[in-house]
Amino acid sequence: MLVTGMEILSKARKEGYGVGAFNVNNMEFVQAVLEAAEEARSPVLLALSEGAMKYGGKALTTLVKEMGRDARVPVCIHLDHGSSYESCLKAIQMGFTSVMIDKSHEDTETNIRETKRVVEAAHALGVSVEAEIGRLGGVEEHVVVSAEDAFLTNPEEARMFMEATGADYLAVAIGTSHGAYKGKGRPFIDHERIRAIAAAVPNPLVMHGASSVPQQLVERFRSAGGEIGEAAGIHPEDIQKGIKAGIAKINTDTDLRLGFVAVMREVLGGSAKEFDPRKILGPAREEMKKIVKARMELFGSAGKA
Ligand code: G3H
Ligand code: 13P
Ligand code: NA
Ligand code: ZN
Repeated sequence: MLVTGMEILSKARKEGYGVGAFNVNNMEFVQAVLEAAEEARSPVLLALSEGAMKYGGKALTTLVKEMGRDARVPVCIHLDHGSSYESCLKAIQMGFTSVMIDKSHEDTETNIRETKRVVEAAHALGVSVEAEIGRLGGVEEHVVVSAEDAFLTNPEEARMFMEATGADYLAVAIGTSHGAYKGKGRPFIDHERIRAIAAAVPNPLVMHGASSVPQQLVERFRSAGGEIGEAAGIHPEDIQKGIKAGIAKINTDTDLRLGFVAVMREVLGGSAKEFDPRKILGPAREEMKKIVKARMELFGSAGKA
C-alpha cells in the first residue's frame, strides 16, 4: 500500500530502527526492491531522483505508483534531491507521497525560505517533506578542523532550521558522501555529531551516501572486467550505530548499481552469444534483490511490516 514518508519514518525513529530508501531507475530495480520488501516484511521507500524521472519518464512513475499500491507492505514514493519548488510540486502532482527539497548548497536563509514553501504546499496535500542542511563529504577522525566543522551539520542550526521550516525529516552531513569513493579505508563517521543532532531534533534523521560498497562486490565487478578505483563505503556497524542514535532513513543507490552491473558483466562475459536481454537483466535483478534484503536486515526494518 502507498503511505507517506512520515507514516513509515516516525515509527522507525520512535522504535529505533532504520528504513531504506532505494534509488530506482527502471522496471528491474522496482521489482527487486519491492520483492525484497515483501519477502522481508519491511516497509520501504522507493527513491526517484530528477535524473531517474528524466530517464524513466511517465513509464517509471506509473510503474512505481501501481506497484507500490499493490505491494503487501507500506511503500512510500519519494523524490530524491528535489532541486526546486517546481520540481517538488510536479512530483506531488504525479502522486509522490514524499519529496526532498535540497537547498543545502544555498545560504541558510534561502534554504529555510525554499524549504518552507515546499512544506506548506506538500502538507496541504498530505505529503511528507525531507530537507537538508550541511554538505556531504568525507571527514577525518580527530581532525575535525574548522573547515570540516563548517560543512557538517551543526546541531543547534538543525534545531532552528526544523522549527523554522516545519520539515518532517532531516538529511544530515556527518561524514558520508555519495558514490563509490567515500574515502580511503573505513570512512570516519561523526557519531558524536549524530547524537548531538538527535538530541536537538526529535524528527527522523536521514543518512545520504550510506552505501557500504562491499569489497566482495567491488571484486566481482573487477573480475568481470569492470574498472573501479579505491572504492570504499560506510561500514555496516557505523550504519547500525547511527540508527541507534536517531537515523531513520538510509539512502542506498551505489550498492544496487554496482551489484546489478557486476552481474550483467558476468553474464555478458560468460556467453558472447547471449542476446536475450532478459537473460542478462534477470540475474542482475536477482542479485539486487539479495542486496536490498540484506540491507533491510541490517537496518532492522525486516519484520516491521
Ligand atoms: O544522490 C543521488 C542518487 O544517487 C541519484 O543519482 O542523480 O544519478 O540519479 P542520480
Ligand atoms: P550512495 O551513493 O551511497 O548509494 O547514496 C545514495 C543517496 O544518498 C541518494 O540520495
Ligand atoms: Na548538502
Ligand atoms: Zn543523496
